[in-house]
Amino acid sequence: MFLFLPIVFLLLCTLQWIVDRKRRFRHFEKLRIPGPKPNFFFGNLWELRRSGVAEFYIFERWKRSYGDIFGYYSGTRPVLVVTNLDLIRQILIKDFNKFHDRPKVPVNVEPVSKTLVGLRGQRWTTIRRLLAPAFSNHKLQSMSVPVKDKVQILLDTAEEHATNGESLDFATATECLSFDVICECALALPGNSQKDQTDPLFQASRTFLEQGKNMFTFFAIVFPPLANIFAFLNRHFASSGLSTCQIIKSLRGVLEERRQQPRTRRVDVLQVLVWGAEKRRRTLTESSTDSEWCNDDNTDKVDLSDDEIIANAWVFLLGGFDTTAHATAFTIYLLAKYPHVQEKLLQELKEHIPLSTRVGYQQLRDLQYLTRIIRESMRLYPPVESFVMREAACDVNYPDVKIPQGTLIQVPLWIIHRNPEIWPQPEHFDPDRYFTLASF
Ligand code: HEM
Repeated sequence: MFLFLPIVFLLLCTLQWIVDRKRRFRHFEKLRIPGPKPNFFFGNLWELRRSGVAEFYIFERWKRSYGDIFGYYSGTRPVLVVTNLDLIRQILIKDFNKFHDRPKVPVNVEPVSKTLVGLRGQRWTTIRRLLAPAFSNHKLQSMSVPVKDKVQILLDTAEEHATNGESLDFATATECLSFDVICECALALPGNSQKDQTDPLFQASRTFLEQGKNMFTFFAIVFPPLANIFAFLNRHFASSGLSTCQIIKSLRGVLEERRQQPRTRRVDVLQVLVWGAEKRRRTLTESSTDSEWCNDDNTDKVDLSDDEIIANAWVFLLGGFDTTAHATAFTIYLLAKYPHVQEKLLQELKEHIPLSTRVGYQQLRDLQYLTRIIRESMRLYPPVESFVMREAACDVNYPDVKIPQGTLIQVPLWIIHRNPEIWPQPEHFDPDRYFTLASF
């Protein structure tokens, strides 16, 4: 008898769990939106994450089977995949007020939830506005000096390897270059991974990016009520969690150092966050550059905690490092593979930049062919292909599709970038295609 009631209770809970899960998996069926059949435990996440096939291939397969708009389940969460450009424009731009948030981070992995990537609603807007001046033309121009110095290290290394007849692993070389540039420009840290790859911050950042999608985060998505337990396990036992703690510790040290030298002339992303935290408008006289940063009317209204400062410094480091490295490496690869494009680029460089001068930020605007090469490289090999996601803040009815509140929307860049209806001969690397495409 003592055991009877607990067993009945347990059975009822299990039954309720099964019924609820089955109900969630009928979301797209009720809306008559096609898509792959979900597995009771994993939704479609197993196929997407653990089948050993790249996510974009799975999306391609699904698009071929189900068309331009289809739905799948990330755990139990319904995700609507949209590849129709008009609808994408509607969701991301025209109806931004109905789709302003990214999906809630499924695993409360600190510090992600405090970053621009994890923040939602008004807090995202406030911090986004605070950070915007960090990317003004003026700022980017001032960053060009450290960028040039770091690039010179890569060129010297490449020359040394060429002289010695040795091959150079450009994927790693661009990873180090990009890491050192972000460290210098965003955090004013002397990134030195190009010379010393054992640099602990570099190693920790790499580990996080390689191991971020692990079994703990997978199960946290699949079983949301247990997410906190998996988040704990991730933090303490997964290498990505441990490397996050290491990165946070380093960034905390950088922040403390900054506070001890408040009159620093360094103006980088971290400094903008520090000023935001001070909750007052500063009128520095050191340079016009500094005052430009402080004239934003929001700076004196934002109350940033140390955790938020560190979290956003972290996201700039990790969001900027791998993406830029990937884009640079693939562009170099394509230039090597297509010598006629390389030759044409050299001609452009010779025309616009005399040999005696070093390339400056302003001159980049004149390098139209280079711009087209980078666009085409990122079309073929987008560094981020499945991160553009939004959550419907309310029910939205479009002529072709009804989107209930809470549905996640995903824009799969890889398949859009290789859609032959948008890009004739999509597999072909052709920087000149942007001459003929009306929208460019
Ligand atoms: C080739 C390089 C890069 C690519 C391809 C790239 C791609 C992207 C994409 C696709 C998004 C999502 C946009 C959306 O949801 O609408 C994003 C957001 C973001 N990226 Fe990058 N990114 C690159 C470089 C960088 C760099 C250098 C940094 C930092 C210094 C950075 C920091 C961020 C941040 C903080 C967000 C969130 C922005 C927000 O919520 O407003 N990214 N990036």
